[in-house]
Amino acid sequence: MTYVSASAPGKFVILGEHSVVYGKPAISVAMNMRFSIRVKRSDRYMVNNQPAAPYNMSPHMRYISDKIGTSPVSIYVDGRVPSGSGLGSSAALSNAYAAAISCLEGLPTDEESIARLAYEAEYAAQGRGSPMDTSASAHGHAIALNVPYDDEDFLWHIDNGERSWDISKIDVPEMHFVIGNTGIKAATGPLVEKVREYTESSRFASEIIEELGDVALDGMKAMKNNDLEELGALMTYDHRLLSILGVSCNELNHMVDAVLPYSYGAKLTGSGGGGCMVALTDRPDKVSKEIRAHGGTPYIVKTGVPGVTVKMREGDGRNRRRWRQKKKGAPTGKSKE
Ligand code: MEV
Repeated sequence: MTYVSASAPGKFVILGEHSVVYGKPAISVAMNMRFSIRVKRSDRYMVNNQPAAPYNMSPHMRYISDKIGTSPVSIYVDGRVPSGSGLGSSAALSNAYAAAISCLEGLPTDEESIARLAYEAEYAAQGRGSPMDTSASAHGHAIALNVPYDDEDFLWHIDNGERSWDISKIDVPEMHFVIGNTGIKAATGPLVEKVREYTESSRFASEIIEELGDVALDGMKAMKNNDLEELGALMTYDHRLLSILGVSCNELNHMVDAVLPYSYGAKLTGSGGGGCMVALTDRPDKVSKEIRAHGGTPYIVKTGVPGVTVKMREGDGRNRRRWRQKKKGAPTGKSKE
């Protein structure tokens, strides 16, 4: 029996969420929380040993299955990226599933092919949005969108007919980030839609989008100069701008304010409305304590992680026990993001 195992990381955004949807610059970093998937051919769709009608699976997985035209598979999902939290769980799921199914069907599994297919799945499921999360998860490490880059750093270009993005790899200097999860789940689609309505009806909101893009460009310069003070200040300013756009919430604002005395800067990360904030700090323990004191869950994240990985093997069942153990407590493969 042929098995395919694939995995892809979640991500956080240093600068540029929401404005990236309008083709503005952004910086995103992959982190050490991954979505792992294992598939094998089956006579019907199964997810973690439970029968799953295709219409019952996540829309991302359904889109990828339909697009590739695969026959039914049995899928084991082990998602370590919290869903609906702005950490790119649906992008990681889409990348891992796209890589697994592509490999099973003998299709290309290079980072770019997977990033494109996963973005199509995200776009179909979410209605709008940029290829930031799917590209960050496919490439791993760190990426920038629509910033000036050297030729050797160019990764790929993606457009959706309305907007286009040049995606390049970037070096992130040695920095410590702590994520704070409010535990409030918020879907990306409605927040992107809220910003669209605001932007289309208010010149003030579209000026904020422009400003968010400029802040991301300044952030790139600060990173190149290893200027953590400047980068942190830009992150905090970015949070204030996102709050004015209406995508923050009290819990995020309180957590950001609480960690600022121990951080270079802090901001919400991802689509907002709940979900997570991120702090740039050299006092991760103190920041984690503050996050906990404000009702959140801290993650001291590691960066510099690989993107999508995929491996096909002929199984003799020896690894099954490990997967059975892993899947305990794992989600069903339905991402809420
Ligand atoms: C990405 O994590 C969040 C948004 O920028 C949406 C997108 O880029 O697709 C809000």
